Amino acid sequence: MSRFSPIVRDEKAGEYHWCACGESQSQPFCDGAHSRKNTGKSPMVVKLESDRKVAWCTCKHSSNKPFCDGTHARIS
Ligand code: FES
Repeated sequence: MSRFSPIVRDEKAGEYHWCACGESQSQPFCDGAHSRKNTGKSPMVVKLESDRKVAWCTCKHSSNKPFCDGTHARIS
């Protein structure tokens, strides 16, 4: 069983900064940890055009970042 699972939330239309490095304490969003920890990564800016339910990727390996595509189930 994977230790990851998506974070599913009802989001409002707008701009989001998805954590791409996995170090944020505010998953699934960036809290600046990528910079403090010198991960070499930066957040992905995502614009939602309308209110919608989102399954945010937390394993950071989705082929459809920042959205979950089920990859977490295939990694440990
Ligand atoms: S904390 Fe992970 S990308 Fe910013």
